[in-house]
Amino acid sequence: MRSQPRSRSVRGSVSAMTEPEDIPRAVDLLRAGRLVAFPTETVYGLGADASQPAAIAHLYRVKGRAATHPVIVHCESAETAFEWAAEVPGAARQLAATFWPGPLTLVLKRSAHAGDYLTGGQDSVGLRVPAHPVALALLAAFRTATAGRGRPAGLAAPSANRSGRISPTTALHVRIELGEDVDCVLEGGASEVGIESTIVDLSRGRAVVLRPGHIPAEALAEALGEPVVLAGAEDEQAQADAPRAPGSHTRHYAPATPAHLVAPHALGAEIARYGAQAAVLAFSPPDERSDYWLRMPAEPEAYARKLYGALRELDEAACQVILIESPPDGAQWVAVRDRLRRATAEN
Ligand code: TXA
Ligand code: MG
Repeated sequence: MRSQPRSRSVRGSVSAMTEPEDIPRAVDLLRAGRLVAFPTETVYGLGADASQPAAIAHLYRVKGRAATHPVIVHCESAETAFEWAAEVPGAARQLAATFWPGPLTLVLKRSAHAGDYLTGGQDSVGLRVPAHPVALALLAAFRTATAGRGRPAGLAAPSANRSGRISPTTALHVRIELGEDVDCVLEGGASEVGIESTIVDLSRGRAVVLRPGHIPAEALAEALGEPVVLAGAEDEQAQADAPRAPGSHTRHYAPATPAHLVAPHALGAEIARYGAQAAVLAFSPPDERSDYWLRMPAEPEAYARKLYGALRELDEAACQVILIESPPDGAQWVAVRDRLRRATAEN
């Protein structure tokens, strides 16, 4: 790829891998109502003390997020996470035992601790125990430091990007995205999974996948011993039945450059149409010469890991359009297709 990216300077330094002494400082900031970005195995999160409404209001301002859009509460164990819920059905215990710590968010009926300021006014709350050593060290230290407050310990953490933009998968992305608006960024390397957690709603009597992710519906069904429903564009009946994850059908995870999905057979013609103004994400070198193109892995998990970094890189090329070769059909590609659909949705 030709390297003439739009240059943007990065203010503040990104520290090397988080050291044990960084954790207490981060905990102090969180207790003071400040924002700490931290790595998870999915994407980086922008953390704030989930039991301080003022801290959460600040988090929403920095994200540019609508007050009706709920956040996920992150905890160091299932036991702590379930304190935020009013009811913990057997299915929730089963999924937590199988997949936590891991890239799974459970939506459960909320307890009195989870106020409207966290849930966007919904009667449910999203909960996750992430599988990243830095995240778990932070959450454990935060719990110890806040024990005895009479409230469960948790960090509200949406992805550490401005609302609607691409989720960050490195600490550097967070710095570029949020600059001085984030008080501390804990470094934890590139996120292994690369796309956001699978979200399962268990608050309405049956398991509904609100957002596909690394953990596929089949694995959830196997753990539960019963089928799960996939809400979303690929299943219109389920979509009609399901509670909506707010913002789930608008442009999201999106680069600033308009992006389009293009069928493999049409890619050459589309590149020819835009010429030097096309940046391209493809599975193999395009027939039509393109100055800005990135090759994507043919395997869905590797594709997901690389996706957001690749979209950021092509966005930096400041072309007129980003052309994305459509991935194959098939269940293994559901989560990737979901993110690509949203990245390429009209506003
Ligand atoms: O992988 C992830 O889940 C990342 C990392 C940082 O953990 N977090 C993340 O958070 O993606 P965010 O805020 O960018 O996306 C959270 C999604 C939103 O689509 C929101 O609507 C949904 O979770 N959500 C949260 N609580 C919910 C609830 N009570 N009911 C329905 N959807 C909920
Ligand atoms: Mg997000």
